[in-house]
Amino acid sequence: MYNSKISGAGHYLPEKVYTNNDLTKFFETSDEWITERTGIKERRISEAEKNEYPSTMAAHAAKMALKNANLEPNDIDFILFSSTMSDYNFPNSATLVQDLLGITNHCGCLDVNSACTGWIYAMVMANSLIENGTYKNILVIGSETTSSYNNWLDRSKCVLFGDAAGAVILSRSDNDKSKFHANFLQSDSTKKEDLIKKSGMARDPFFVDKENPDLVEMNGQAVFKAAVKTMAHQCAALLEKTGTTKEEIDLFIPHQANLRIIEAVARRFEFPKEKVMINVQKYANTSSATIPVALSEALIEGRLKRGDKLLLTTFGSGLTSATLLLTY
Ligand code: ACO
Repeated sequence: MYNSKISGAGHYLPEKVYTNNDLTKFFETSDEWITERTGIKERRISEAEKNEYPSTMAAHAAKMALKNANLEPNDIDFILFSSTMSDYNFPNSATLVQDLLGITNHCGCLDVNSACTGWIYAMVMANSLIENGTYKNILVIGSETTSSYNNWLDRSKCVLFGDAAGAVILSRSDNDKSKFHANFLQSDSTKKEDLIKKSGMARDPFFVDKENPDLVEMNGQAVFKAAVKTMAHQCAALLEKTGTTKEEIDLFIPHQANLRIIEAVARRFEFPKEKVMINVQKYANTSSATIPVALSEALIEGRLKRGDKLLLTTFGSGLTSATLLLTY
């Protein structure tokens, strides 16, 4: 059995910014309402003219991760790509990334969709494939263009989301220092109607109501409460299961959906501010990209170093949840 280590991370953010004040031009809202309810100040929006799609943004993030890992594209031997909406129905976006990176070794390519939790699900899968010796370097991506399916007439939801891509290379470790300790991957399907997007897929493939697009249905308050409760519960259970104290956690990266959710979870563990990674104010909720983007930024800011204990937790449609404890 082998250990895995994160050998490189990268991220990509579209240049175009919509501030809360920009959104007041589209519908009745205010910077005050959005900031107070969510902590979000602005979000990035992908542009077709700039060739910004899930796969192309992911390729930028992956190139940065490869550079940081000091690896060549053909060193990658598997690609896992998490997105709530891939570029096409098929082929999958992981395959498009293989092409964009110029990988010629015919490595396996798989898309994963578990909404906001997909990237941690993919990391846990990647770790198993490294641990059992199947692969040495797996590219694990979270890339999202939520703006492509956001209903820009629905102020109650569109203000919450943004676009971004994050990528990590998980590699076979040659020592015992870096490793995955334990995880929870769960789903409560009884609450699947609380956050659901039905249109555009097999049951409703030709959805065209542009006047009144009912794209994302969400019971905001139910999702809020379930997110806080589930992430706090999973983190506590994971610390207990691994015999880890909260003081031993060097960095906590929670899903970046809402500052109030992050603060409520962090409060339960009395994590000091400097141990909690927060960038939701800059990028809003970028679904499965939030954690890899925050991780990449944490490395750039020097907030995460080799041997640190890292706790990641996320929550999303399903209602799925995922929490992971690892030593970086
Ligand atoms: N600007 C101004 N007013 C607004 C806006 C807006 N953008 N959106 C809604 N309102 C109004 C509503 O119409 C309502 O008005 P009314 O009282 O006259 O009917 C009022 O504000 C209050 O609306 P609520 O829905 O009760 O507001 P709430 O305090 O619950 O906040 C929010 C809503 C921010 C969506 C919150 O419930 C939340 O963050 N939930 C979590 C949802 C989430 O994060 N989903 C992302 C995906 S899941 C995940 O990643 C965890």
